[in-house]
Amino acid sequence: MTDISKAGTFTLGTHKVNRMGYGAMQLAGPGVFGPPKDRNAALAVLRAAVAAGVNHIDTSDFYGPHVTNEILREALHPYPADLTIVTKIGARRGADASWNPAFSPAELTQAVHDNLRNLGVDVLDVVNLRAMFGIHGPAEGSIEAPLTALAELQRQGLVRHIGLSNVTPRQIAQGRGIAEIVCIQNHYNLAQRDDDALVDELAAAGIAYVPYFPLGGFSPLQSATLNDGAARRGATPMQVALAWLLQRSPNILLIPGTSSVAHLRENLAAAELVLSPDALTALDGIAKESVNHH
Ligand SMILES: NC(=O)c1ccc[n+]([C@@H]2O[C@H](COP(=O)([O-])OP(=O)(O)OC[C@H]3O[C@@H](n4cnc5c(N)ncnc54)[C@H](OP(=O)(O)O)[C@@H]3O)[C@@H](O)[C@H]2O)c1
Repeated sequence: MTDISKAGTFTLGTHKVNRMGYGAMQLAGPGVFGPPKDRNAALAVLRAAVAAGVNHIDTSDFYGPHVTNEILREALHPYPADLTIVTKIGARRGADASWNPAFSPAELTQAVHDNLRNLGVDVLDVVNLRAMFGIHGPAEGSIEAPLTALAELQRQGLVRHIGLSNVTPRQIAQGRGIAEIVCIQNHYNLAQRDDDALVDELAAAGIAYVPYFPLGGFSPLQSATLNDGAARRGATPMQVALAWLLQRSPNILLIPGTSSVAHLRENLAAAELVLSPDALTALDGIAKESVNHH
């Protein structure tokens, strides 16, 4: 079995977590809406992750909605003492599965209480405020009012630590003036490198950077360079994509998502994969290839 501690640890809020974690979004139904096709399989993925040493799980009550948190609770409650569950608020789902901003203080308060109830906890370890100025990527806009509301919920003892998601450097600077920010969760992977400078700035500040879509998300990464690199070391392309992220910066924490135990085990094994400097240089070229293809 993989020793995921080989990928190292990082202090996220209160707990030291393994840098190799798990993202639970894939456990809801198609389109992250409704129940999964196979609930027992979803429960098995979570239990296998924790059994393998995963102690950082990313979720949200708007996956399903509610479905992912209910599955997390069923699979793992009472939670292991060292498990850090990170959730996110700021959106709500329409009856048509749409993703809508839910940024008012009343909606954010409701979202924190929904997460507490559905996860079955008295306090949430880490809550990311997910900005919705742009749905598919960060866009400017003040986060002062919603973050002040979240900081008030923290003051009330309902939230231990605060993070931000889908945000710009300017919003991060604004946020750090309002509350202590322990993690940033943005879209980043081998082919999506907009946050390159930000990753390094956050590393210097001791803040975790948690890339969402580490494998490319709804359209998993495809690249001949990635396939060649993987074949040469007897690994899979997804493992190489994750190993590249681990080597990219020590503050990067991984939350690859999967609904399958086989893919989970494959992804966790990337914790033991070490890429040579030459391999890293070749992989760095992928972002330029994908820019050229646009
Ligand atoms: N803050 C935000 O706005 C935001 C947005 C999106 C996601 N997230 C978080 O980030 C986490 C990760 O993102 P994600 O799950 O959307 O994308 P991802 O980790 O980049 O990729 C998941 C996709 O890759 C497939 N996959 C996983 N492992 C594989 C493997 N070894 N071989 C082949 N295919 C594999 C999965 O399908 P299978 O199920 O078939 O394995 C799924 O389709 C989510 O779980 C969620 O917690 C946050």
